[in-house]
Amino acid sequence: EIEFSLRPQNLTQYIGQDKVKHNLQIFIEAAKLRHEALDHVLLYGPPGLGKTTLAAIIANEMGVNLRTTSGPAIERPGDLAAVLTALEPGDVLFIDEIHRLHRSVEEVLYSAMEDFCLDIVIGKGPTAKSVRVDLPPFTLVGATTRAGMLSAPLRDRFGVLCRLEYYEEYDLANIVERTADVFTIGIEQEATIEIARRSRGTPRIANRLLRRVRDFAQVRGDGTITNEITRTALELLQVDKRGLDHIDHKLLRGIIERFRGGPVGLETIAASIGEEAHTIEDVYEPYLLQIGFLQRTPRGRVVTHLVYEHFQIEVPEK
Ligand code: ADE
Repeated sequence: EIEFSLRPQNLTQYIGQDKVKHNLQIFIEAAKLRHEALDHVLLYGPPGLGKTTLAAIIANEMGVNLRTTSGPAIERPGDLAAVLTALEPGDVLFIDEIHRLHRSVEEVLYSAMEDFCLDIVIGKGPTAKSVRVDLPPFTLVGATTRAGMLSAPLRDRFGVLCRLEYYEEYDLANIVERTADVFTIGIEQEATIEIARRSRGTPRIANRLLRRVRDFAQVRGDGTITNEITRTALELLQVDKRGLDHIDHKLLRGIIERFRGGPVGLETIAASIGEEAHTIEDVYEPYLLQIGFLQRTPRGRVVTHLVYEHFQIEVPEK
């Protein structure tokens, strides 16, 4: 399966995120030396930076099974109990979007994480009984786009906190090169850098752009990804020189044209351009904040002079 071997299988193959990688390497080795389950790990940061990949790598490095689910998928405490009681000793349970767990589910998770046991209430009213079920020791790997959205009691139960950062251009270029290798396609070095530069610090975007550029190279060229084909393809894909796409443009131009550059509230701008506020906040805004195109103020979002320069339009007098 190409789609799967695309993902690195162990920490050595994993490019970038050096701090996270080196810390995990130590914690994994120590847990293995002690023949214990790895402590619970919280992975947080913007989407597409490799949280799911890291969870799979952790399980692989520990030599245990990976069970994957997500916050919204676990609707009731019983759903969580079913997942937890099916685990084998040392297994990794990966819960994506863990900030979206129901409160009632979250409370069951506390004792599972802390004492490896479940307190299940059977029946209702005066005859209700509480039954304690022991669980095998396991590692919970939770992923969230923003750690701030986790309740304090849940956050406190993770022994290892890993914040994923946007990737450096250099690391992204290496990821693009590696993926091209997996696809067994030729790519010019300049083309790897061009794709890296336009990927918003995000491997998922880099690999997506690489796939699309490969399509152009196969149909319009001899299959080799040249720098020229890359530039043409990215232009046609409406990915600009900083990697901003048409939704970034709609957002930034919307703030400039309809709200004089801001400040404007998130909900207001979201409604005005017809995008979900949550999507803007989790997917688009973090990178625009990171590159200094957008600022958050108490009165709302403001575009900076960098945006006017990027679009080559005059900064209006205030
Ligand atoms: N593919 C996607 N993300 C990757 C990473 N961080 N290292 C290697 N290959 C990747």
